[in-house]
Amino acid sequence: MKKLVIQGGNPLSGTIHISGAKNSAVALVPASLLSDEEVVIDQIPNITDIDALDEILIYLGATIKREGSTMTIHSEKIQNKEIPEEISKKLRASYYFMGALLGKYKKVEMYFPGGCAIGKRPIDQHLKAFEALGATIQIEGNKYKIEADKLIGNDIYLDCASVGATMNAMLASVKAVGKTVIHNAAKEPEIVNVATLLNNMGADIEGAGTSEIIITGVEKLGKAYIEVIPDRIEAGTYIILGALLGNPLTIENIIPNHIEALLSKLKEIGVPYDLSANRITVWAKSDLTPTAITTAVYPGFPTDLQQTITTLLTLVPGTSKVTETIYENRFQNISYLNEMGAKIKVDGDTLTIEGVDKLHGNVVQATDLRAGACLFLAGLKADGTTTIEHVEYVLRGYENIIEKLTQVGAKIELKEI
Ligand code: EPU
Repeated sequence: MKKLVIQGGNPLSGTIHISGAKNSAVALVPASLLSDEEVVIDQIPNITDIDALDEILIYLGATIKREGSTMTIHSEKIQNKEIPEEISKKLRASYYFMGALLGKYKKVEMYFPGGCAIGKRPIDQHLKAFEALGATIQIEGNKYKIEADKLIGNDIYLDCASVGATMNAMLASVKAVGKTVIHNAAKEPEIVNVATLLNNMGADIEGAGTSEIIITGVEKLGKAYIEVIPDRIEAGTYIILGALLGNPLTIENIIPNHIEALLSKLKEIGVPYDLSANRITVWAKSDLTPTAITTAVYPGFPTDLQQTITTLLTLVPGTSKVTETIYENRFQNISYLNEMGAKIKVDGDTLTIEGVDKLHGNVVQATDLRAGACLFLAGLKADGTTTIEHVEYVLRGYENIIEKLTQVGAKIELKEI
């Protein structure tokens, strides 16, 4: 087990550079196998979720070269064999191999994906999309066998605008015969990034980033290059850190459009910031105004920043409310925040937060990736020492976190237990 030990209370100044987006990269890597030629993905973050995907690609017979943040993938020699549970359960995004292998070979056998235990997280909408294209699905325990004689373009109606199901529907339909329309598609920027890679390979996808995506099947996909977009959740996390401790703190390599929901909330509560084309400078301020936040699909307030903004709201005088609408179990951070001095009540899907003056250091546990992020922000702000156990969760999604934070003045150490 790994733990983070943080000496809190130090103002932070300097610049943090944002890495490539985890939730784009984890789809771009499996998407690459749809090509019969070389695919180069730049700005790949060095996080453990990417290592887990590489392991699957290598197991299938792909060759991967990583040089700095550039990954080159050759998938010509892939064998479409069953992906074992030990590797598929390492992360959520292993489910993108369902769409990619089905799209390329019309058959995939693999197990239910893993990922953070933040809710039920069914994959019924992914399966519905595959079925609409003509695939049959057999489920034995945790194992899924999905196959089709031929994939034929169709209308796919998603019951909820799921990121994963939208990505998988694109991956499975790019080589289908004829036209596919994904209705009620998710609009997250990561979907646009993946559609751009597929189009660079020779696919014909229109409308990514809107709720209707039209895909006209092509026979062959070839050589392509793509850059991973900057991680809007990593950016949001460090911007919130700036609001807690910025003296001031600058966050660079951001796309302001992608974080509008967060920026408008910060403006509403009175956080001072200075925004330019690809960077933002944030100052900590004590007399902020309480607010109400409800998570929503993009461009609404992202669930992936719900836990980190809660850390900020614990220190805002007055009563704030946070409602989580995407996941059933994304409040596991609250008992730990309360042990650090916060005053938060959980009532169903809503938090009521009474602002306190201070947080104090404690021994806490990361129960999932963003819960861990919430706690490292709390630990950096709190008086005294905070130890965060099970910090492997955080390392899944934040590249070079120790280096990035140390560089701006944080006292933070990663230790093996
Ligand atoms: N849902 C269904 N059926 C489905 C698919 C989803 O009911 O077939 C429900 C889920 O249970 C959930 C909601 O729809 O309540 C949203 O799920 P979605 O499919 O959009 O999420 P995801 O693809 O599983 C991705 C990110 C998450 C992020 C969500 C929402 C990846 C690997 N994960 O998950 O990221 O929270 O979109 O933006 O891209 C994180 O980075 O911490 C993280 C959890």
